[in-house]
Amino acid sequence: RTPIAVLISGTGSNLAALLRAAEEPGCPYDVVGVIADRPAPGLEHARAAGIPTDVVRLADHPDRPAWDRALAEVVTRWNPELLVLAGFMKLLGPPLLEAFGGRILNTHPALLPSFPGAHGVRDALAHGVKITGVSVIEVDAGVDTGRILAQAAVEVLEDDTEATLHERIKAVEQPLLVNVVQRLAAAL
Ligand code: GAR
Repeated sequence: RTPIAVLISGTGSNLAALLRAAEEPGCPYDVVGVIADRPAPGLEHARAAGIPTDVVRLADHPDRPAWDRALAEVVTRWNPELLVLAGFMKLLGPPLLEAFGGRILNTHPALLPSFPGAHGVRDALAHGVKITGVSVIEVDAGVDTGRILAQAAVEVLEDDTEATLHERIKAVEQPLLVNVVQRLAAAL
């Protein structure tokens, strides 16, 4: 099984989906560690599954490069072959990009290249699009600019709020992300 590390900042519903899939006998990956940039509630999913976790906060480091290095140290300690950003709300710095170039995935709650950044759902809603969705991409140094690996569409409903729309996007996002991670892990 290909060892993967997952990076999160939030509730970790995508992490939970990755962990559930990993319990199936034929799954081609194992989650070997979960790291967060804050005490994210989603870390509980990893703890419940007995998977090592760590929190590396930007505020605990003198500057961004020092935080980048600390993050890379923790991640590489687990020897993963693939990194999955599952609701990780910070940009990765050079240490991880160089160590894992082409083997870092991110999931984003919009149809890229539309609505990149931290508020994909809110921005799509504000723009008034009728169809939005989710994109699973390869991470590069830009903000959601990497190669698109998979997408799925979600209809925007008349009375949607950011929360209701994001909920429906997540329902589509979780199986899509699991599918892409399984595909890439199987090929490594
Ligand atoms: C996911 O919908 C993910 O696409 C989004 O954060 C959510 C995390 O949910 N990521 C971004 O917006 C990255 N720009 P989760 O913590 O329940 O998995």
